Amino acid sequence: RPRVLSGIQPTSDSFHFGNYLGATRQWVDLQRDHQPFFFIADQHAITVEQDPKVLRERTLRAAAQLVAMGIDPERSAIFLQSHVPAHAQLGWVLSCLTGFGEARRMTQFKDKSLKQGEGAASVGLFTYPILQAADILLYRPHYVPVGEDQRQHLELTRDLAQRFNSRYKKTFRLPEPYILKATAKIADLQDPTSKMSKSGSATSGIIFLLDDPKVTAKKIRSAVTDSGTDIRYDPEEKPGISNLLSIYSALTGDTVASLEEQYAGRMYGDLKKDLADVVVDFVTPFRERTLELLEDQAYLMQVLARGAAAAGAIAEATLRDVYQRVGFVAPP
Ligand code: TYM
Repeated sequence: RPRVLSGIQPTSDSFHFGNYLGATRQWVDLQRDHQPFFFIADQHAITVEQDPKVLRERTLRAAAQLVAMGIDPERSAIFLQSHVPAHAQLGWVLSCLTGFGEARRMTQFKDKSLKQGEGAASVGLFTYPILQAADILLYRPHYVPVGEDQRQHLELTRDLAQRFNSRYKKTFRLPEPYILKATAKIADLQDPTSKMSKSGSATSGIIFLLDDPKVTAKKIRSAVTDSGTDIRYDPEEKPGISNLLSIYSALTGDTVASLEEQYAGRMYGDLKKDLADVVVDFVTPFRERTLELLEDQAYLMQVLARGAAAAGAIAEATLRDVYQRVGFVAPP
């Protein structure tokens, strides 16, 4: 079975609908007929300053959310990046293959470092995509299910894999990004020309999976819509309505065309009210399940331990090949 791998950062108390529709929902689907590896990128999280206590809590919340949304620990390896040291170890080797200019071209670094002010960004934030390449290449996956914002990192990953393979010996598989067009970039509800993002936007524009469902319904009802009155999918002219239609369609399975038909001649408010109901029906049981899982930390730790053991075995074998190929003497 083809392998899939992906990761998510534990940088907020809750995942949001961008994470879910753009990425983790595909994880749930792909786990069935693939060999799945999913991890929580705690080492990526510290590229910006984190409160240690909060990071620990958010990491466990992330694990609970993955299980609650349907990642099955019996099928999938769910693990923490920091539990598999080979990620950082391969990261070093790959950083020695990466050009400075090549790293500097990564647009996420540009965006995030600008936000922090000139010179305040860490070297870790700069080298972050190289660690991400290591995360991926260690497992030789066929597919990496992510949102559109990760495409450039996947390209770097493929470039580094190719470079290593041609400089030494074929070692890595060139992974394919798995990006679903319809949900690749879920927009902020208050600023529908930007992506929904835990670091970027004001929280009023972000639908968090673990928000109180009442708050969620209110956020959707106050989403920014466009001028005009017709309910039509047109991302250029009507980014707000189009985003709501995308979310609606993704959650119900109704096509966007059938939604347009259903709402022909009706008001924006009708669409928002119905979408709020759809979203609330989805998040209510999800939230209960997550909170339940968080009560049982022993179980979560057991899931993570099993995941790290399965992932670690594969990662270490790849790292051994790499160390041998670059010319490191094997330990006695
Ligand atoms: P992160 O934690 O920012 O986001 C997790 C996943 O959610 C997707 N995503 C979105 N998709 C659609 N619309 C949005 N508004 C939206 N916001 C976020 C992201 O594309 C991502 O797939 N660098 C990664 C984590 C990572 C990783 C990896 C991913 C580390 N190592 C190896 C894949 C493979 C990140 O920061 O994702």
